[in-house]
Amino acid sequence: MSLVIHLKSARRDWWKSHLQSLLPDIECVLWDEVTNPDAILYAVVWKPPAGGLATFKNLQCIVSVGAGIDHVLADKALPEDIPIIRTTGSDLTQRMREYVCLHVLLQHRQLMATFAAQRNQQWAPAITPTAADRTVGVMGLGKLGQSAAQSLKALGFKVVGWARSHHQIDGITCYTEAELSRFLQQAEILVCLLPLTDTTENILNKDLFQQLPPGAAIINAGRGEQLVEQDLIETLDSSQLSHATLDVFRTEPLPADHPFWTHPSITITPHIASLIDPESGGKEIARNLKAFIAGKTVEDLTNRKRGY
Ligand code: GLV
Repeated sequence: MSLVIHLKSARRDWWKSHLQSLLPDIECVLWDEVTNPDAILYAVVWKPPAGGLATFKNLQCIVSVGAGIDHVLADKALPEDIPIIRTTGSDLTQRMREYVCLHVLLQHRQLMATFAAQRNQQWAPAITPTAADRTVGVMGLGKLGQSAAQSLKALGFKVVGWARSHHQIDGITCYTEAELSRFLQQAEILVCLLPLTDTTENILNKDLFQQLPPGAAIINAGRGEQLVEQDLIETLDSSQLSHATLDVFRTEPLPADHPFWTHPSITITPHIASLIDPESGGKEIARNLKAFIAGKTVEDLTNRKRGY
């Protein structure tokens, strides 16, 4: 009974011994150490090579080392019936909450303009409304989205949420798929934490941006494929959007000659909104896997048909 690990991290060996110590009854091996593919029952992966998982004929479960599972579903050779568990431990949720609140506050207090003024040695105070007069829209109300929305609410913002299915969150008006326009019309700062699916690909496009209040800002910590890049540049240049903070990109690392790097109204972070902490993330993965093997409920077992 073996478990295979595929990670891009330079700490692969550390992950292997960490997982091995947490799962002593299962032999843990790195992807390129597998000698007997038929012995592999479990896979713990981030961005596995296309077609790779299908070579493990006895695979019973795949664990995504992160909240998203799009990198696993991208492998079209993967049999439909293999369960996938995502990892959304408390540290991932907390980091996303911090990232979202930080960047919403930067937009809310117009601090990007203040920082630009500093570079020109300009003293340029701006009076901004209080949070109570600012509406933030959160797209994607999974575990991370709900927690970010609740934190924004606790900071005093008016918060509206949007997701495919119906959600009820205290003090937050939630809209469903057919109500996208009503949601967008209110969102002065739009935060995207959606999973990448066929329906969310390219969702951040010109048509959507036009429905936001003039001068709205966007923060994308979902997936790069959700954003139509040229539409973003054109909408920023027309001033319909005031700013975009982007953590995720179609190509990562973002190529050195990409126009986003130098656009004055774009802030780039290198996919750091919610990185997994190997110590606690490993424990979360082992806990979920043990529960799965014991036939217990695993909260983060995904609904593959819906892409999360
Ligand atoms: C990161 O992007 C994740 O899916 O956890």
